[in-house]
Amino acid sequence: QQLAIGSAHSKLILVGEHAVVYGEPAIALPFPSIHVKSIVQPNEGPVLLESSFYVGPLNSIPEKLKGIATCIKQTCKKLNREPNGFRMHIKSTIPIGRGLGSSAAIATAVVRSLYHFFNEPLSKDDLLELVHMAETYAHGSPSGIDMEAVTSDAPIWFEKDKRSKKVDIKQAFHIVVADTGRIGDTHAAVSSIKEKYKSITDQTKYSIKSLGHLTKEAKRALKDGDLDALGDILNRAQDELVHLGVSDAGIDYLVKVARQAGALGAKLTGGGRGGCIIALAKHAVHAKKLAERFLHAGADQTWHFQIGSDENQY
Ligand code: MEV
Repeated sequence: QQLAIGSAHSKLILVGEHAVVYGEPAIALPFPSIHVKSIVQPNEGPVLLESSFYVGPLNSIPEKLKGIATCIKQTCKKLNREPNGFRMHIKSTIPIGRGLGSSAAIATAVVRSLYHFFNEPLSKDDLLELVHMAETYAHGSPSGIDMEAVTSDAPIWFEKDKRSKKVDIKQAFHIVVADTGRIGDTHAAVSSIKEKYKSITDQTKYSIKSLGHLTKEAKRALKDGDLDALGDILNRAQDELVHLGVSDAGIDYLVKVARQAGALGAKLTGGGRGGCIIALAKHAVHAKKLAERFLHAGADQTWHFQIGSDENQY
């Protein structure tokens, strides 16, 4: 039997994170610069896992990586196969816990590689069902946006419990991603908003509604090719995320650096409380300059890329 390979790319949330958990829409972008590959090959005996975060038998996997073990076991169960007789090598260039969809991308690559290994066709529904199980393990109550975004080759409009749709983009735009280098805990960030939502504040509900409106405005700005409007929307979305308590000093600082360096807009992306920011650049040269500024300001790493052009990489 040959090597079987499954892969998935990273994702970015342009606008609407957290609010999407409460039924508001969000827009996400595939982020192909970083990705995961899972390589499966035959091997006698119990499943062996090889990755930068764990090497060893599947059954001894540490508690915080149980999502991956669950994903492998559930996929085998769905395929009516025993979880043994193969080894799996997971290679990822997506940093973990930075709001870049690493858990959804790992689960997607794992499921794809196992279906390939067992020579079974994989439907989108089965893929999403299996990745959702792993995501529930990692995130508590995921909206499902991450797994839709890591399996999409185009920007998507997403609402919970609905199928994602492609977003119309009139004019290409340049996004710069800057990583604070600190691991954010999406599970904890989502839970903290849930607590606030239950308890008192109208402010929390107001911020969530506002984020939904901003996502609708962003859709219009993308359709019209109005990048100034889009930048303004990103800035206002960041204000709401600050109100929701999911930003932090490191993110606030990089957002400030972005704005001082002339970004059209900047905000956190994903779960927040650590993780990454995205900034909207004016053009390709500006994107490069912003990336340099972020590194100078202490960002751990940066990426920049163009979305929505004829020659784009999707
Ligand atoms: C994480 O990328 C996005 C959140 O809205 C959580 C979710 O939707 O599952 C923070």
